[in-house]
Amino acid sequence: MTTSAASELIVTPPGLAGVVVAETAIGDVRGAEGFFHYRQYDATRLARDHSFEDVWHLMLRGELPTEAQRGPWEADVAEALVIPEGLAEQLGVVMRAAGSDDPLVTLRTALSAYGALTGDRPLWDSDEDIKQRAALRTAAVVPWLVTAAHALASGREPVAPRPELGYVASYLAMLTGRTPSAEHIAALSRYLVLTIDHGFNNSTFTARTVASTGTDLSSCLVAGVGALAGPLHGGAPSRALDALDEIGSVERAEGWARAQLAAGQRVMGFGHPVYRTLDPRSELLKETAIELGGPTADLAVAAEAEVVKVLDEAKPDRPLRANVEYYAGVVMQACGVPREMFTPTFACSRVVGWAAHVLEQSRDRKIIRPRSRYVGPLPE
Ligand code: ACO
Repeated sequence: MTTSAASELIVTPPGLAGVVVAETAIGDVRGAEGFFHYRQYDATRLARDHSFEDVWHLMLRGELPTEAQRGPWEADVAEALVIPEGLAEQLGVVMRAAGSDDPLVTLRTALSAYGALTGDRPLWDSDEDIKQRAALRTAAVVPWLVTAAHALASGREPVAPRPELGYVASYLAMLTGRTPSAEHIAALSRYLVLTIDHGFNNSTFTARTVASTGTDLSSCLVAGVGALAGPLHGGAPSRALDALDEIGSVERAEGWARAQLAAGQRVMGFGHPVYRTLDPRSELLKETAIELGGPTADLAVAAEAEVVKVLDEAKPDRPLRANVEYYAGVVMQACGVPREMFTPTFACSRVVGWAAHVLEQSRDRKIIRPRSRYVGPLPE
């Protein structure tokens, strides 16, 4: 970071890399150690040992539920998963207005409409109880919004949530129309818990920036969805699986990676702005992919080693390793999640993290308002 003498502005590194812009008690990423946590808990342990509902409670309420709290909290979640009457018809209207079949585009537009329909109030004017209820209600509707949009786009009737199955199983049931297996529920639960939050990632920062104006929760979440959709953020898992399709067999992996780099392309699913060692999410998802088994998992494991070899050679000073997106696609595909639903599925979990961050930001009444350095022609 340098100070510009002419204007006394503090000039930050490109992309704000390494700059601390806020304080949070929600979680952190330690890039050099390959570790991340939600509040005081190792996030990978939470993903192994706790339900999505438990971790949702941790993010929103600040602590894991006690035995006594778990039942009422799960009942609150189940109630929030029920879709308000009339929403299905309105979703069709929203999709036509959005003019797109992409579930993420529908989600962006539908969240905006949902906020208006539910009378979302500015955070500035809301007490903690109102904010907590809005956060639960809005995050709970996202799985239905994306699966219903996907069904409608494929000419099928949306499947209603099945709250009695629990959050993750209900999601898979809505997506596939079948009661999911215990193996798929457990695997997808790991993925969803692992992706609830991840430090000051771009979409979280975006949502918090919007929250700092005191506006309503839905506006913050809509902004988060927009940021998440980009290929440098959440839009990579289907691209990573597309790459595995292109590779086809492990013998082709090295040549494919070399050709990508020679063409100036990035290898999707590799590299991370913060991790300089293995991404712990990728490690757990790799383990999960291997447990689920299948030819795509076998190819992914073998191709990873070849791609890393090529990347190490090309960028010896920059360790580029598989990130969360690389094995996310493999796990989701094995669980029956179609490719076009990978990023919308990511949105289902990340919205829980965004909501927790938005509420935290709303308690700090200072607007985020940086400066830019003008580099255009001087005004007359
Ligand atoms: N393949 C090839 N080269 C890469 C890759 C990659 N996946 N990632 C980074 N590099 C190279 C860059 O070209 C750059 O080289 P240069 O210095 O010669 O120009 C160097 O490594 C540093 O790149 P940055 O853009 O500074 O890396 P940053 O850490 O900011 O970017 C990112 C991280 C965006 C994830 C990047 O690694 C990337 O584009 N990966 C592929 C897309 C992807 O997997 N996205 C999902 C990431 S998970 C998430 O949500 C952030």
